[in-house]
Amino acid sequence: MAKVTIDGIEVEVADGTTILNAARQIGGEVVPPAMCYYSSLKDTGGKCRVCLVKVTQGSAKDPRPMPKLVASCRTPVMDGMVVQNITSPEVLEARKGVVEFLLINHPLDCPICDQAGECDLQNLAYEHGAGKTRYEEERRTFEKVDIGDKIKLHMTRCILCYRCTFVADQLTNERVHGVLNRGDASEISTYIEKAVENDFSGNMIDVCPVGALTDKTFRFKSRVWFTKPLDAHRNCTKCSGKVVLWSKGDDVLRVSARKDEFGEVKEYICNECRYDHKNMSDWTIEGPRHIDKNSVISQNHYEKIDMQKLKLDIERQIQFQKGKQLPETNQSPA
Ligand code: SF4
Ligand code: FES
Repeated sequence: MAKVTIDGIEVEVADGTTILNAARQIGGEVVPPAMCYYSSLKDTGGKCRVCLVKVTQGSAKDPRPMPKLVASCRTPVMDGMVVQNITSPEVLEARKGVVEFLLINHPLDCPICDQAGECDLQNLAYEHGAGKTRYEEERRTFEKVDIGDKIKLHMTRCILCYRCTFVADQLTNERVHGVLNRGDASEISTYIEKAVENDFSGNMIDVCPVGALTDKTFRFKSRVWFTKPLDAHRNCTKCSGKVVLWSKGDDVLRVSARKDEFGEVKEYICNECRYDHKNMSDWTIEGPRHIDKNSVISQNHYEKIDMQKLKLDIERQIQFQKGKQLPETNQSPA
């Protein structure tokens, strides 16, 4: 075990734990942001640099500070290490610079982007972004591309975090897309837009931290904060069947995997659950999905939903789909 102090808070973690994961064990504002690291995908991290922290004491044995800021997702803790995240003005300044770089090519099209409201870059820009850009060169632009019949790639928004390629590598049998070219010519591509056809390819949408990969069955249907997220499950032979239904009235607009407090998928779901079951009657509803109070999605206070009324509404929907007579709309639960 190793004792590490992050922003003045001490935590004891297993040897080999990264600074980022040690901070996650503390939780709250101490946790550095992460745009490319994903704990359930091997070898992620080290690409975006938003997780930079300052190591003011390397270890108990060698207390010298590290000479440069380090990527917390890739740096293991040492016993006696002292780290600064939000308590270091140098880190905050560097993070501002990283956000400025990420926004060089990423368009500020949040008002029309389906990721708005659940976009890590939008949150980062809000917290660390500058009001103006200093970039005067021409920006990269791309035509939108269909990756299969359910996913739209909007390369202009991609920040090259590589998460989607790790999903394709590690969750599906056959990877047919990847990062082509190098430097500012890098882009996600599928070689002649070959469709990604395998049962878990839809998870690329959930791991994408920005709006570069979006669900074509949900695109432009609703702003996410106007939807009502519900935890639901079904018996599925391919995955756990545990999902979030993003509904509006009786309509299920989107099905996604459940994410943890760090915005990472808890259990990957299959494409059948994601795309082929858009009726309330396909699911067992567990209740309203808890969304962090700092998220814009929490604005509509859906957690105060009357569960009895919700069950009645769902029953009405099932009856309607079966072609049976609807109960009275103002009928109160028995
Ligand atoms: S498409 Fe999304 S997940 Fe894939 S590399 Fe780009 S930003 Fe990352
Ligand atoms: S999260 Fe650490 S470099 Fe991207």
